[in-house]
Amino acid sequence: MQLDLFSSIPEQEDEKQRIFSLREELERHNKNYYVNNQPTISDQEFDRLMRELQDLEQKHPELYDPTSPTQHVGSDLQEGAFEQVTHQYPMLSLANTYSEGEIREWYDRVVRGLNGEQPEIVCELKFDGTSISLWYENGILQRAVTRGDGQRGDDVTRNVRTIKSIPQRLNPQLNYPNHFEIRGEILMPWEAFDRLNKEREEQEEPLFANPRNAASGSLKLQKSSEVAKRGLDAYLYYLLGEQLPAQTHFDNLQTAKQWGFQISDAIKVCSTIDQIMDYINFWNTERKKLPVATDGIVLKVNSLKQQQQLGFTAKTPKWAIAYKFQAERALTRLVSVTYQVGRMGTVTPVAELEPVLLAGTIVKRATLHNEDFVRQLDLHIGDMVYVEKGGEIIPKITEVELSARSTDAQEVSFPEVCPECGAKLFRRDGEAAHYCPNSEACPPQVKGRIEHFVERKAMNIDGIGTEIIDMLYKKGWVRTYADLYELHTHRQELIAQDKMGELSVSNMLNAIEQSKQQPFEAVLYALGIPQIGETTAKKIAREIRSIDNLMNASAEQLQALEDVGPIMAQGIVDWRNKEQNKQIIERLKQYGLNFESTQIVTSDGPLKGLSIVISGTFTQHSRDEYKALIEQNGGKNVSSVSAKTDYILAGENMGPAKLEKAQKLGVKIIDEQTFLQLIKQ
Ligand code: IVH
Repeated sequence: MQLDLFSSIPEQEDEKQRIFSLREELERHNKNYYVNNQPTISDQEFDRLMRELQDLEQKHPELYDPTSPTQHVGSDLQEGAFEQVTHQYPMLSLANTYSEGEIREWYDRVVRGLNGEQPEIVCELKFDGTSISLWYENGILQRAVTRGDGQRGDDVTRNVRTIKSIPQRLNPQLNYPNHFEIRGEILMPWEAFDRLNKEREEQEEPLFANPRNAASGSLKLQKSSEVAKRGLDAYLYYLLGEQLPAQTHFDNLQTAKQWGFQISDAIKVCSTIDQIMDYINFWNTERKKLPVATDGIVLKVNSLKQQQQLGFTAKTPKWAIAYKFQAERALTRLVSVTYQVGRMGTVTPVAELEPVLLAGTIVKRATLHNEDFVRQLDLHIGDMVYVEKGGEIIPKITEVELSARSTDAQEVSFPEVCPECGAKLFRRDGEAAHYCPNSEACPPQVKGRIEHFVERKAMNIDGIGTEIIDMLYKKGWVRTYADLYELHTHRQELIAQDKMGELSVSNMLNAIEQSKQQPFEAVLYALGIPQIGETTAKKIAREIRSIDNLMNASAEQLQALEDVGPIMAQGIVDWRNKEQNKQIIERLKQYGLNFESTQIVTSDGPLKGLSIVISGTFTQHSRDEYKALIEQNGGKNVSSVSAKTDYILAGENMGPAKLEKAQKLGVKIIDEQTFLQLIKQ
């Protein structure tokens, strides 16, 4: 008896301690997830910690705390950034599980709660984005509010108005209630996500780990014009209000679809648990073909009356549950950490792994983002680590298997000096990245700028790849991209190089000469000014018209340009104030590069007022040329198909998602020939 007592006290104490530390830990993860949009653990690990806390709290009711993360939803509120609005109905979360057994238990609980009645269950996809509440009055969108802390959310109406699939105004002929609320998920489709991350990679900005973070980060941007460029989409899944059109959830959604809301076609009413399991198994694989990320299935009792009968807990409705798909993950060893220096000096730690098969591909490396990420994982060399590819394309280390750590394992320590040139690294205020300051002489920065300069979308100099740039750099013939235009003076020496013949040298020099024809917008992009990606370069080129204007404009004048914010303006000013850059511009002018915009900005032409989406591959012009042709002829090139799209210019292998959507919306599909005819007229 005595023994028992003694041994149980420390255990009880441990559990109490564990409750406090779990609460603290989960609050930290909530903040990383909902506010910073940079989770440091996987969803699955988060759910596991939450479940552990729930179980412990149940065992220790004396430690009940209404502020515990088990009692409230994670908050996305950003103090000061947006006006905060109280929800008419609290915005709850969903209970979730990864186990089919628990789905069966939930179903049995529901049946018991309904006194043995077998309910209809609506099965839906669980979209992996960020939730939104939309208020309509007399058919007009009044407010769009994030979930916030469940009681109050951020008013992001102006940003939501940029999302094409959300109707601003319903057709007045339809019969909808005067007041209603509809909730759903704001998403970033894979295509837009890939494009955004590619742009961010080029700009050495931190990448978004997955479309969910990208969607919620975008929705909270201060500039709506920026949000508009992010290609967000939305699916709606919950209609609320006093005068709903139907008595079942399914019928309400189908009616909302007729009002013009985007409701998924994957919704199904099931009447047995076996049908539910079939639905889960079907979508577990089929979802990979969808254009948007999903992370599970949501089950909801169909009848609103039965929903009412079942009611809610503090945080979740009892009439619904989410089944979450297992993320694909693998366990492997961290062999070492290397550091990559980008063309703008960002130093990125990279995990070098023992090769492991994950979701059909061999993973050998994973980005570790920055020092904070490494610290949070508490990485040691030789650790066994979990690598995940949830929905993400880039494999990510989500967790260390601490039980497998050897006692003498060395902690990963971030270098103080640049691994490439030895300069002392620095961090900018409020940024997680380390930078190498030696932009003029640090080899990967110098070579990286040249690689960027010759890119197809920049100066389009064919035949100069990484290897050749390496050789040109080592020989000392090219130290800045301006030196490329003097390369002809080394013609004979070039021909004498390994793997370079007369012909390839001629081709290369011709391509360099030819690049002088590239338009101003491409030159502006090629210069590699921080923050100026391809799209921004185009817009700036059009507005500012010449490099002289750019070099002489004040920071205020720069900020007055459509897409330029204070950070970008400062980036431009810092760049052009560097003596080296001034000299390079002067030299490039002498070589005859295009430093003035010749493009005629037109809102007129045969395509005036038409929105055109490009899809597939073409034979007569490149995609970029088609984009330019659309704009030069007064049309607007848009990235995703919506009801407002007038044409799809389709090449070969048009994306199946676009095709399906186009057919559904009745958007006209035209081929290259027809398009070229159209602009000839
Ligand atoms: S229904 C009261 N349906 O999942 C029920 N939620 O983890 C409200 N979600 O906050 C939610 N797809 O952001 C519902 N088809 C779907 C969903 C869905 C994604 C999100 C939603 C919710 C979260 C809960």
